[in-house]
Amino acid sequence: MALELMKPVTLYLNEIATKVDLSMIGLSVVALLAIFITRYIYRWRNPKCNGALPPGSMGLPLIGETLQLVLPSASIDLPPFLKKRIKWYGPIFKTNVAGRPVIITADPEFNHFLLRQDGKLVDTWSMDTFAEVFDQASQSSKKYTRHLTLNHFGVESLKEKLIPQMEDMLCETLRKWSSQESIEVKGAAVTMTINFAAKQIFSGDLENAPWNISEMFKDLVEGLMSFPINLPGTAHHKCLQIHKKVREMMKDVVQKRLAAPEKNVQGDLLDHIIQDMTTETYIKEDFVVQLMFGLLFVTSDSISTTIALAFKLLAEHPAVLEELTAEHEAILKKRENLDTPLSWSEYKSMTFTLQVINEVLRLGNIAPGFFRRALKDIPVNGYTIPEGWVIMIATAALHLNSNQFEDPLAFNPWRWKNIQTSVVAKCFMPFGSGMKQCAGAEYSRVLLATFLHVLVTKYRWAMVKGGKIVRAPIIRFPDGFHFKISEKSN
Ligand code: HEM
Repeated sequence: MALELMKPVTLYLNEIATKVDLSMIGLSVVALLAIFITRYIYRWRNPKCNGALPPGSMGLPLIGETLQLVLPSASIDLPPFLKKRIKWYGPIFKTNVAGRPVIITADPEFNHFLLRQDGKLVDTWSMDTFAEVFDQASQSSKKYTRHLTLNHFGVESLKEKLIPQMEDMLCETLRKWSSQESIEVKGAAVTMTINFAAKQIFSGDLENAPWNISEMFKDLVEGLMSFPINLPGTAHHKCLQIHKKVREMMKDVVQKRLAAPEKNVQGDLLDHIIQDMTTETYIKEDFVVQLMFGLLFVTSDSISTTIALAFKLLAEHPAVLEELTAEHEAILKKRENLDTPLSWSEYKSMTFTLQVINEVLRLGNIAPGFFRRALKDIPVNGYTIPEGWVIMIATAALHLNSNQFEDPLAFNPWRWKNIQTSVVAKCFMPFGSGMKQCAGAEYSRVLLATFLHVLVTKYRWAMVKGGKIVRAPIIRFPDGFHFKISEKSN
């Protein structure tokens, strides 16, 4: 009987023991999870470093401060993300972008030092989406791209053939633009610059392509600066789709040229690469396609943005336009024969024009910064930048700094007249600086100067619609810049 009575008690105790066991396991799991999450958040906020990290915040786990960085601001001024953090932490600070720890530097001395350390303390680096879209695996292929670009778009090519070709193309383009009711200058300039570059790269004709290249490149740029989530409907996904489409088109061009080597007499950049394929083992078909895509992109987007901004700034500053026009009319007056094409020495004589271009580049900050990766721990001002970290050289913060450029948001090309050489060397680098400086810098300046030459000597223009400027953090014109362009009556 006693045993009979004991049975339910034992069962009851067993049940309690099981419940206690289960809740203990549950509690332990929750405790472990809490420890893991706390440790993860602690590690996220306090990354490993052999020394003190620069001040700053690593933002939220996984996404860091990406959302704050890409938040659009409706002004030509420095984006609030940079402005606020420089105020809070000073010119060198840490952050996290898309899960990657980054040091941002707006310190002229440190930037100048870093840009002379390529291959020693730092290496070039691209944001993940850029790398996915523009990747060139090896150092030799990067060197080759630079060499090839300088060969086809550098000073010698400009002097020998590109300037007169540019002038012809610009006369024809502006004639077409002026025949329309109004023109959206940014989009039209993408089409113009990409067509001209395609001729140099593969003797291509993109004018009659079955798709709208300027729309495609607009979406591509949006995607490059978006959060890298590859899901249908996202800007990143659209960007990768466009990348694929343009690459397929380039692949077709390359394969046709490779299949008919007897047609390799165009003397364009593609001929040059195909010849080099026999001696340079890293040049494979895929590399060629990637290189052509990258060049089409860099030759069109940045120059077209600069052209559109110049249109707007000149329309708003009649005194600048007057002096600019006078410089170009003086060039024409000096000529014995008005029909002679624009020459290299005439380009070199355009002092005020080059000041105007500098000023548009300074305010535009087409590339708000560029990247390096630390190859070793780098000490700076008592802090340490850990090996492997990405460093963003925030040139926009230098270009819009009131210590270097008085009244920095004013469009004042005359400021370049007596500017100190040290300010130019350390605080003005729209094309980068040092060994990795943009290989298309001179090409861009010449194309912009030639554009202005044709524009101010033959046309006048007025804005009819749009004109809004947004930085996210790359400069964009969401409603476009719509201008009516009319031929000047002599
Ligand atoms: C307004 C127009 C342009 C701007 C603002 C611009 C800006 C830049 C910047 C900031 C860099 C990075 C420099 C560095 O990492 O130190 C760069 C690199 C480069 N750019 Fe441009 N660029 C422009 C036009 C062009 C054009 C038209 C071409 C081609 C014809 C070009 C070809 C290149 C190449 C090949 C590099 C890599 C150089 C290297 O790593 O050695 N760019 N550009």
